[in-house]
Amino acid sequence: MLNLKVNALRDIKNDVVEVLEKAEVEGCLEEAEILICEAFNINRLEIYAGDYKPSANQLKKLSAWLQKRCQHIPLGYVINKAFFYGNEFYVDEGVLIPRCETEVLVDSVLNLFKDKGLSEKMIVDIGTGCGNIAISLTKHLSSCKIMATDICPKAISVAKKNVNKFGLEANIALLQGDLFESLENYRGKIDAIVSNPPYISQVEMDVLSKDVKHEPYISLYGGRNGLDFYERFFQEAADYLTDDGLIFFEIGCKQGNAARALCEASSSFSFLKIIKDYRQLDRVICCRKN
Ligand SMILES: C[S@@+](CC[C@H](N)C(=O)[O-])C[C@H]1O[C@@H](n2cnc3c(N)ncnc32)[C@H](O)[C@@H]1O
Repeated sequence: MLNLKVNALRDIKNDVVEVLEKAEVEGCLEEAEILICEAFNINRLEIYAGDYKPSANQLKKLSAWLQKRCQHIPLGYVINKAFFYGNEFYVDEGVLIPRCETEVLVDSVLNLFKDKGLSEKMIVDIGTGCGNIAISLTKHLSSCKIMATDICPKAISVAKKNVNKFGLEANIALLQGDLFESLENYRGKIDAIVSNPPYISQVEMDVLSKDVKHEPYISLYGGRNGLDFYERFFQEAADYLTDDGLIFFEIGCKQGNAARALCEASSSFSFLKIIKDYRQLDRVICCRKN
């Protein structure tokens, strides 16, 4: 497929772009640069300015990665890295690759905690995946106790890797279970529940991009209309929260009204606000326990 030779890096980059283009990978130039930098352990400038000569092994690695990327295996899984809230996380096929929209969820929690001067609170991240939300919150709310749960053992093991990578073993407790299953000991004690649950509807699942289809089904599918998790949260969350406890959920950009209606239909919660993302789309719903 690709016969990469020890060549000027610019030529290698052009070859990689061409191969990615043929495979209909979006953002070919940026991806080519990332693959080359990661495979050769160099920075972007060196592609254009340096006289770096890759070894045969490095070229083999690049070629193998390129082959995977042409099969639409997401870049994050190919290089085992994803960036979120200014930090680099380990990711693999066991977890969803963090999205930049989810940074709005982290901002929403941090802003509200800052506004209200909240500290030393107990926060739970449900459906933690690689641990990106829990870890980002912990870095900014060091006095809070953070717990992170996921139903999927593979996700818990990736989250553990990241918690260790950031040296946060003493700050974050990782628990495996279905929604609140692992939180029985914390009934009535949690100050805030944060979650980016699976929220893709059946109709949307049918038209996912080739890349997203490689991500775990369990991290994407939110039931026929995508709202299964919000329905469960509004039924079950109140038992675990303190009085005035808060919830922050990421939502799909078309789910704002439906999520608000679910909150208002529940006698346990008051709707506070919907927060928009960088593209001005509904992204986070924030509610308070009555
Ligand atoms: C959309 S991903 C979010 C991952 C990560 N928090 C992020 O924002 O990038 C949803 C996560 O919820 C987990 N999950 C799915 N069903 C669950 C359940 N019933 N209870 C707990 N976690 C669940 C999945 O394994 C997945 O890691």
